[in-house]
Amino acid sequence: MAALQDKLASSIPAIRKELQSLVKQSGSAKLADVTVEQACMGLRSVPSMLCDTSEVDPNRGLLIRGRPISELTNKLPEEIFYYLLTGELPDEDALKSLQADFRKRAEVPEHVWTVINAVAEEAHPMRTLSIATLSLGTESVFRRRYTEGMKKEEYWETALEDALTLLARLPQVAAAIYRRRYKLGRRIPSDPKLDWAADYAQMLGVEDPKGEFTRLMRLYMTLHCDHEGGNASAYTSHVVSSTLADPFFAFAGGINALAGPLHGLANQECLEFVLGVHKKFKGVPDADQMREFCWDVLNSGRVIPGYGHAVLRVTDPRFTAFHHFGKLVCPNDEIFRIVDLGYEVIPEVLKKQGKAKNVCPNVDAGSGALLYHFGVTQDTYYTVFFAVSRALGLLAQYILDRALFIPLTRPKSFTLSWLKNFVKQAPGANS
Ligand SMILES: CC(C)(COP(=O)(O)OP(=O)(O)OC[C@H]1O[C@@H](n2cnc3c(N)ncnc32)[C@H](O)[C@@H]1OP(=O)(O)O)[C@@H](O)C(=O)NCCC(=O)NCCS
Repeated sequence: MAALQDKLASSIPAIRKELQSLVKQSGSAKLADVTVEQACMGLRSVPSMLCDTSEVDPNRGLLIRGRPISELTNKLPEEIFYYLLTGELPDEDALKSLQADFRKRAEVPEHVWTVINAVAEEAHPMRTLSIATLSLGTESVFRRRYTEGMKKEEYWETALEDALTLLARLPQVAAAIYRRRYKLGRRIPSDPKLDWAADYAQMLGVEDPKGEFTRLMRLYMTLHCDHEGGNASAYTSHVVSSTLADPFFAFAGGINALAGPLHGLANQECLEFVLGVHKKFKGVPDADQMREFCWDVLNSGRVIPGYGHAVLRVTDPRFTAFHHFGKLVCPNDEIFRIVDLGYEVIPEVLKKQGKAKNVCPNVDAGSGALLYHFGVTQDTYYTVFFAVSRALGLLAQYILDRALFIPLTRPKSFTLSWLKNFVKQAPGANS
């Protein structure tokens, strides 16, 4: 099978043509009517962008190129990157070629380490990661070639160059941030013999005699890779990328959105929730105690982290994959048992409360307990794992946006007084 670059070069012209003729023939066909509520309350369910890498089906969860994520959990993240971009899994030669490409680009420029070391040590790791990502971007080929007058047809090629460089270096940067932030000693060098996620795992310096943490990291990196185009980080990244800011800027924009507690930061909050249960009951509570704890959280006006979703209406299959892993690897771990108990009790509590549209666990509900089991107890770091994995999807989306000549994103806003007038004149308005 062809290397990633060749595979894309052979497939992009036809996809580009297909989209152009669809827009030409059916450009005025309506996708949806947008309600006042949708426009004012976060654009929920408004179909407003093209994203071919993956989709989220409310009842099936994440489908990558049409295939449920549950069928891809044994794949390496590198394979997933190839799959996100092309819709085909690489064969052994194509995978080797991609891994060799990563190795060729792996050296992190010295100035990036200087930048990381200049950030306040106590800064949240997501802040440091964002700064470090921007600093990596000084070598953007997309930016350099753009200023030299690169043709539009070539945008995707230099975007791919930048994406490969960023992916090759990101695990080293993320691992260095971990070791510095939590005072764990010097940076551990990258091992070119290892696959992408295994190398990240070893650079963190986590003891892993049975290779189980490495397996968890491969699974983690695969499960968080992408979640269609409309989630907050992907959408942010898409908007930045549409300005033709380079992939480093777009990725940094995306992970800044990921750093919010309603999005990627929820995984940190989930572990804090579970540890709170453990502390209060000095171990694993019974189901009644757990219920009572959840009601206390809800009655104090807080949400139960790790439950609910803007799109999903069933248990997130990514939660199921983590849950399955925990059942195999650490079924007796007290923190994991609380996650397990939560899965039994929380949906029923949220149902009784009657507010959440989805009462099932999302991807964040159980991942922290597994990291904790392996000694990665620093939950303020957890969103960085999410961000490293999500680079696969955000960068794949960037490349495809450029390949398809997706123009500047520019929706229309309106003022409150315009809205008041509009509502007065709308059919069905109170006279
Ligand atoms: C993910 C989330 C932000 C989706 O938000 P949403 O699309 O607005 O969800 P809904 O439409 O179901 O929300 C309706 C109501 O239920 C509440 N709700 C949703 N999930 C809830 C939860 N896990 N705990 C308590 N209340 C919840 C909302 O806060 C909202 O209350 P409000 O009307 O008082 O504002 C929301 O479910 C949440 O905050 N979950 C916890 C945080 C989390 O796990 N984030 C990670 C997402 S992958």
